[in-house]
Amino acid sequence: MSPRYRRPSLLLVFLALFLSLDVRCQNSPAPYEFHGLPVRSDLANPTIEKKVDALLKQMTLDEKVGQLVQYSVGTATGPGTGRDRYDDMVQKGEVGSLYNLADVKAANYYQHIAVEKSRLHIPLINGLDVIHGYRTEFPVPLGLASTWDPEIVEKAARIAAQEASAAGVRWTFSPMVDIARDPRWGRMTEGAGEDPYLGSQIARAYVRGYQGKNLSAPDSIAACAKHYVGYGAAEGGRDYNSTEISEHTLREVYLPPFYAALDEGGASIMSAFNALNGVPSTANPFTLTQVLRREWQFPGLAVSDWTSIRELMPHGIANDGATAAFKAFSAGVDMDMQSNLYHEHLVDLVKGGKISEAQIDEAVRHVLRVKFALALFDNPYTDETRENHGELSEQKLNVAREAAERSVVLLQNEPVSGQSVLPLNHALHSVALIGPLADDPQQMLGSWSARGKASDVVTLRAALEQCLGAARVKYAKGGEITSATDAEVATAVDAARASDVVILALGEDAGVMTGEAASRAHLDLPGGQEELLEKVSATGKPVVLVLFSGRPLTLNWAFTHVPAVMAAWFPGVQAGPALVRLLFGDAAPSGRLAVSWPHSLGQIPDFYNALGTGRPADDSGSANAGTHEAKYVSRYVDEPNAPQFPFGYGLTYTEFRFSTPQLSAKKLSATRLSEDLRSRKTNTSTVMTVSADVTNTGKVAAEEVAQLYIGLRGTSVEEPVRALKAFERVSLAPGETKKLTFSLTPESFALWDIHNERTVEPSQVRIWVGPDSRRGNVVEMYLTE
Ligand code: NOJ
Repeated sequence: MSPRYRRPSLLLVFLALFLSLDVRCQNSPAPYEFHGLPVRSDLANPTIEKKVDALLKQMTLDEKVGQLVQYSVGTATGPGTGRDRYDDMVQKGEVGSLYNLADVKAANYYQHIAVEKSRLHIPLINGLDVIHGYRTEFPVPLGLASTWDPEIVEKAARIAAQEASAAGVRWTFSPMVDIARDPRWGRMTEGAGEDPYLGSQIARAYVRGYQGKNLSAPDSIAACAKHYVGYGAAEGGRDYNSTEISEHTLREVYLPPFYAALDEGGASIMSAFNALNGVPSTANPFTLTQVLRREWQFPGLAVSDWTSIRELMPHGIANDGATAAFKAFSAGVDMDMQSNLYHEHLVDLVKGGKISEAQIDEAVRHVLRVKFALALFDNPYTDETRENHGELSEQKLNVAREAAERSVVLLQNEPVSGQSVLPLNHALHSVALIGPLADDPQQMLGSWSARGKASDVVTLRAALEQCLGAARVKYAKGGEITSATDAEVATAVDAARASDVVILALGEDAGVMTGEAASRAHLDLPGGQEELLEKVSATGKPVVLVLFSGRPLTLNWAFTHVPAVMAAWFPGVQAGPALVRLLFGDAAPSGRLAVSWPHSLGQIPDFYNALGTGRPADDSGSANAGTHEAKYVSRYVDEPNAPQFPFGYGLTYTEFRFSTPQLSAKKLSATRLSEDLRSRKTNTSTVMTVSADVTNTGKVAAEEVAQLYIGLRGTSVEEPVRALKAFERVSLAPGETKKLTFSLTPESFALWDIHNERTVEPSQVRIWVGPDSRRGNVVEMYLTE
């Protein structure tokens, strides 16, 4: 957390303010402890509060409710409302926010009606799903997370904010910070993977990038952490499905990235579609009021997801729209995205005494705070001459290429005739480029590509032909993503036979198989691509498989038979140049997996930071374990426990060696660390350092992502065998050694104990520093009483 947001005196002011308010969940006093957010002065400060108070006094109940209503004007991404006379509705003050309007003239048009023609001149806040770029499309979020590079994520989000704001967008529904442990879930592509620590660092980076130094700057856009909460744990990986998550796991795994996004100053949060432990997230008082408002003291805006208030009816907790509106509102959802139920029922609910006007005021306050913070009252219009900020530029494309390069994970690079297939030699006589994703610009944009244009994309084919000259590239599509004819496959095989090396560009359909409503029950290559892969491999030519996907795929045949495999995710506008530089060694791969890559569907959910069980298996989990002791352990009889590739894994064109970590202390007092936690000296106060030397032992300069994991034993609750607590990207020349020093804070050792209290407990601590979640050198230390 940046120190500029710490305002201890304001914290007291707001504490008093919140305590005096008629908060919606009336029971149990707020346990304001160490976990509250710092008050962010640009979102909530006495000046803004005065303005909000003054405005609230002038507003009628109808106008107040209007601020809590949001409609999509542009492309629908869900069912409609039947209400579309936006001019009229805005003029009457019935709308607080419009979205899906990514056109500066249209944004200014509606803003003009709101500001000039509505009675109180309250500006609209215009939203859009700017997920991994606006016009300059970066890798999909799972790819951005695979960079393990918060700085590049922040740069990408900053560019997205500049472009989107130039089109009148001042609110993005991003970042998606849902922890995802099940690759069947199509939305895994939209998040930062399976780990709460990595997810939190990436969440912070997005918020910093979107919101800039101050929300009031015209090129800042408000971030929205979504989907609150547990959405990524959908049972069976089926989108929108229910979730069962204990309070302990919720606090340890699913809540931290939300907390991080808000701690960084994130201005809004979106409630999720899923039921959480039997209570739909959009009507969940525990998460929306107890945790969000009471414990974290979040001052910003909570919006529902698209029609998720109306969906309380099919969820079965409301038999009519009024009850759905009542339940969502009382639980803590301020703004109704698209259900139209707040518009229809909130006024009557107040008149009928079910909701107090003070509760309405509090929700409106959350909305107005964000509008004032964005300076929308002072500068409601977007300068139309800024529109060219949405154009591509060399500088933005460089960031896009760099992000794409860092996002690609080299999964496998086996020798063929004694030499690793990659990097390829520039002097190659000919290359066969085969596959439905080799030259499909639209696919490279991934899901949710805002105003990204296929015509901006440089495909792998275009970049390869530019690099080698078209004459040396034999391109054969080999079929579509989901189907291929015999003739297409035969042509591809011929191209392979006639070339020195084959690059196969295979994978998923970004639009159909990844993103929202795109869960898969099979994680293999769709259509005839597996057959294409096998037939091309049968030519005996060295094959490099470049895999485009929104998730790990279970490709046993490929990992056994194909020497080189790269996970490219969907890399964005600079897909081709980034991949060609990596393939030919002009850049060394440095992406690392943000999710475990399973061997088979049956292993799912498969995540590294699992608990150990009382009968841990050895890594092989061998089916033929001969002894009695080896049989009765936690394993499959037909599959190892180990994933195909672990979390944090990624190869490059050199090797690194890690020294044994050195600790600045072998013992620390758990009591003292707990006190520091309570007094909020958490992320900022180093309690010890861990240092380790990393050496590049190969012949090529490259970047390593050094990872520090902790395992606690002897605690009141079972903790993950390993949990990521720090990481650092380091660039090393051949033969070079660098000493890395990681700072550990009370937060690094903290856990949610058996009473669900945040604390540090006496324990034995194992600390690993290494290249991924399964390797590294380990040392021990103790947390004493
Ligand atoms: C539904 C999606 O779940 C959410 O992520 C998105 O922001 C909204 N639609 C708005 O498009």
